[in-house]
Amino acid sequence: MLFTPFTVRDLKLKNRIVMPPMCMYSAGNDGQATDWHYAHYVTRAVGQAGLIIVEATGIEEAGRISANDLGLWNDGQIDSLKRIVAAVQQAGSKIAVQLNHAGRKCEVPELEIVAPSAISFSKDSRKPKALSADEIHRIVEKFRLAAQRAVKAGFDAIEIHGAHGYLLNQFLSPLANQRMDQYGGSAENRVRMLGQVVEAVRSVMPDGMPLFVRVSAHDYETGGNTPESVSEMLNLIKNKGIDVIHVSSGAVTPAVPRVYPGYQIGFAVAIKELTGLPVIGGGLITEPLQAERIIKADVDMVFLARELLRNPYWPLQAARELGVKTDWPVPYARAK
Ligand SMILES: Cc1cc2nc3c(=O)[nH]c(=O)nc-3n(C[C@H](O)[C@H](O)[C@H](O)COP(=O)(O)O)c2cc1C
Repeated sequence: MLFTPFTVRDLKLKNRIVMPPMCMYSAGNDGQATDWHYAHYVTRAVGQAGLIIVEATGIEEAGRISANDLGLWNDGQIDSLKRIVAAVQQAGSKIAVQLNHAGRKCEVPELEIVAPSAISFSKDSRKPKALSADEIHRIVEKFRLAAQRAVKAGFDAIEIHGAHGYLLNQFLSPLANQRMDQYGGSAENRVRMLGQVVEAVRSVMPDGMPLFVRVSAHDYETGGNTPESVSEMLNLIKNKGIDVIHVSSGAVTPAVPRVYPGYQIGFAVAIKELTGLPVIGGGLITEPLQAERIIKADVDMVFLARELLRNPYWPLQAARELGVKTDWPVPYARAK
């Protein structure tokens, strides 16, 4: 199953193995991709990951997690990504980009941090400024412009970062969002900004290009989100053009769950059942058989993050272990 193709809109993946976004903190303060990014992403394409999702990429300077994040907040940032996109596609993988606004988790000291409400992430964190409705609209527009640039760079898909406690997740979670206006309170209000971002991003994407949303399915804290509440919110906006849900969890607050291989798979299965959308699941997956079982459990794609850092050729080895014939890059064929 792991090596069967998967199709969503016009995107055809050769297998179900996804490299999820991982910040490299290796861009300059200008947000430009470097040779490090080129080597990093193209190597995983040579290793035959079906889909590579480029790390959290800031839609504005204050939307970055660190001063060394990638950016798509100006046109000058398109070309350095275009070169990586072309090389990954040439090596036979598909490539998406994760668009992000860090909100209260922006760690660039000289930039003001913003959030739905003036509540800090932890007792040691800075206090954010609560966004006005006008400021929310301006951020939505910046997501649109960044998506337009991602299309120009040639990406095969776009992922909106709605997980890990960054701005859109802050709106989704009652633990970070205590607004009294149309952006806070009910599920409908908390998902409003994500819905507006989905609409804005979708409006500049070609029809055949799929849109992914990454979510934190569980906040691991009383009063926080669960797979059920997250699905309820996704169901309110999915018709605006969401194609795939990429299921992760946590990080809206410092609460840490007990983790073990596959600890988030139940969340992915629940979200798929409750929304009817295809899902990517994973977390602490290292073994080909674990990945195979996850796909058999009706999760559409499996992500491997740190394992693909340790071993970029994991898909080639997994195919061998599972007894599947798979293509190797021609220059490496003698090593098969
Ligand atoms: C170095 C590093 C950077 C990460 N950066 C991001 C990111 O930019 N966006 C994101 O959604 N998740 C990010 N993550 C989380 C991973 O995508 C993944 O969900 C997490 O590592 C768990 O998967 P694993 O157990 O297979 O490593 C990062 C993880 C690592 C290790």
